[in-house]
Amino acid sequence: MKRTPIIAGNWKMHNTLAESTALVEALKKTTNKNKAEIIVAPSFTSLAKVAELAKGSILQVSAQDIHWEDKGAFTSAVSPVQAKDAGATHTILGHSERRSVFGDTDEILNKKVAAALRHNLTIIFCVGETLQEREENKTLDVINGQIENGLKGFTAEQLKGLIIAYEPVWAIGTGKTATPEQAQEVHAAIRATLAKKYGDNFAQATRILYGGSVKDTNVDEIMAKPDVDGALVGGQSLIAEKFDRIINFN
Ligand code: PGA
Repeated sequence: MKRTPIIAGNWKMHNTLAESTALVEALKKTTNKNKAEIIVAPSFTSLAKVAELAKGSILQVSAQDIHWEDKGAFTSAVSPVQAKDAGATHTILGHSERRSVFGDTDEILNKKVAAALRHNLTIIFCVGETLQEREENKTLDVINGQIENGLKGFTAEQLKGLIIAYEPVWAIGTGKTATPEQAQEVHAAIRATLAKKYGDNFAQATRILYGGSVKDTNVDEIMAKPDVDGALVGGQSLIAEKFDRIINFN
């Protein structure tokens, strides 16, 4: 099955309004020769501005996270209603930095998944193992657990359009990329898990992105793998020329 590729940029805690504006204006000019879906995930201070600038362009806009409640006494958090109101159509959930630095557990993520679905935000659901888990041969168990518990209680129909991002924790921001073979192996395993849980049609339609030190110099070989449907890019998504090259992978 042919799946439309997705190239997503996670800006993390970077970029002032002026920097976000400059980056969006540069990215709007990309040739996008692969006709990929292009998504940028700015921090909340830039989200409304970026969404406004991206309107009518090929860029789609994602939140980096949302809270599970629609409103309430949750100092500093941003609700799905607010993210949507600011112009987000997507939200990343379960990024490893959210899991490890901010304590997002599978149970919390399951509530955030419900919140995103309630408000029609397309979910980019991140999974991935630590170096220790990989060395102990637990990679697939860890990832299957994250999928099982994070998405618990929802049907294929409800999860339609879900995007998965496989991001080995040891490859994020370290310059250490998984080999294309390592990525392919895990992506194929994730697709098999999705097929078992939600059926073959769902598994074949679901885009699975690779993330972790994706660069202009390694994107081509990673994207060449049959079960890699796109990339979730951190560091290099902040540099217009680099991200443009990643969007236009060969
Ligand atoms: P990186 O980040 O490309 O800087 O490794 C990827 C991510 O965390 O999504």
